[in-house]
Amino acid sequence: MKWIGILGILLVTIFGTHCSSNLDDDLNGSTSDQLKIDTLVSALPLTVSVPRDNPITQAKIELGRLLFYDPILSGEKDVACATCHHPNNGYAEFRDISIGVNGKGLGSQRVFKQPNDIPFVKRNSQTILNTAFNGIDPNNKYDPTNAPMFWDIRTKSLELQALEPIKALEEMKGHHFSQKGILEEIITRLNTIPAYQTLFKDAFGDTATINPVNLGKAIATFERTLISNNSRFDQYMRGDKDAISLSEKDGFALFKKVGCINCHNGPMFSDFKIHIIGVPSNDKLTETDKGFGEQFGFRTPSLRNLRFTAPYMHNGSLQDLLSVMEFYEDVSVGKIRNPDIPKRNIDLLIRKLRLKVKDMRPIISFLNSLNDEAFDQKIPETVPSGLKVGGDINM
Ligand code: HEC
Ligand code: HEC
Repeated sequence: MKWIGILGILLVTIFGTHCSSNLDDDLNGSTSDQLKIDTLVSALPLTVSVPRDNPITQAKIELGRLLFYDPILSGEKDVACATCHHPNNGYAEFRDISIGVNGKGLGSQRVFKQPNDIPFVKRNSQTILNTAFNGIDPNNKYDPTNAPMFWDIRTKSLELQALEPIKALEEMKGHHFSQKGILEEIITRLNTIPAYQTLFKDAFGDTATINPVNLGKAIATFERTLISNNSRFDQYMRGDKDAISLSEKDGFALFKKVGCINCHNGPMFSDFKIHIIGVPSNDKLTETDKGFGEQFGFRTPSLRNLRFTAPYMHNGSLQDLLSVMEFYEDVSVGKIRNPDIPKRNIDLLIRKLRLKVKDMRPIISFLNSLNDEAFDQKIPETVPSGLKVGGDINM
């Protein structure tokens, strides 16, 4: 792993162990506790770490961008990565759970074409923004070859993640290919398109072949450029004390005091760990999604760019931030929001939250200071396959 910048190191804090259990005892306690909590969050670094064997080059970024928008990667040639991760929606999607194969339209407008025998994707589409930083800890350390991906962390690294949606029936594969057959099919297709042959050679060298490894590397490289690290909160943490308002400052203090920070910490506001918090189920799904280890555990999501990640939670079951706050208030006082999950299994850090109704508004206004819309939104005009850019996203 190679650092291509040093800002991250400059922000490194000095304590080593900060296991959440010793933080939640007395959040109003001594100043040393307060100092410890204050070091749990910081601005995002200005540069990203990359795997040693996948340096960022302009040729690779542009190849990755084209692949990201090209529905040639899907079994029925109707879905691209951008279908569910579109820049107009902050590279996420304004809908609870995704529609992939056999769908049309974008975001909240997207529906299945009829007739249809493809199920919904069981989860809410995460934003690609800042996934380059997945796994980053409060010391700004992370390993891009081991970066946690998905709501249940079933895959590590952007390179490996990129091949998963292609193999998933409801996301991109469809019925006509097997999980094994689909990657072979995609590689064959790419090989018959002269523009891709040239682009892969530009990106990986004259002797390189078009194969799944290089496919993953190109897409991952493009994704690493989708950074939004200059929110008003970042400006504040880098020293501009007026970048956030008084009520946002109040909200930030409450966010720490109430105990949100015990899980939503580090510059991404995520510990990237699995917790059982008892989110309500989504009625559209016929099968219960039991998450990590069949225990209803899900990964703490980043709280950056929440403007784009609504509706919230792994299944989009909570419409807006006020609903999220009310959910936390309920579970912290022992109310059950998902009858499949016994109360005793709910994470202790949830049961210890001290969230009052009057704290909700300031916390929400603080969360809004974490939005940053200055990210790369460039959409290619055409893709080398000649198919529809972004898949069937027009109604
Ligand atoms: C049909 C909609 C759909 C398509 C198409 C799709 N995704 Fe996703 N994406 C999702 C959903 C839903 C999740 C969360 C899935 C989960 O956690 O099980 C996700 C998660 C991800 C993540 C993980 C983000 C994180 O923070 O862990 C990345 C990265 C990603 N997708 C990239 C891609 C790429 C690259 C492609 C194209 C090869 C793609 N997606 C195609 C819906 C889609
Ligand atoms: C025990 C760890 C923990 C604590 C404490 C915690 N969260 Fe979460 N948070 C999570 C997990 C895990 C999820 C995802 C759960 C799921 O989807 O099933 C989540 C999801 C969210 C989301 C949804 C984000 C999205 O894009 O869908 C928001 C917003 C949020 N939390 C805010 C807060 C706030 C505000 C507090 C304090 C009141 C808080 N959290 C306390 C672990 C925690």
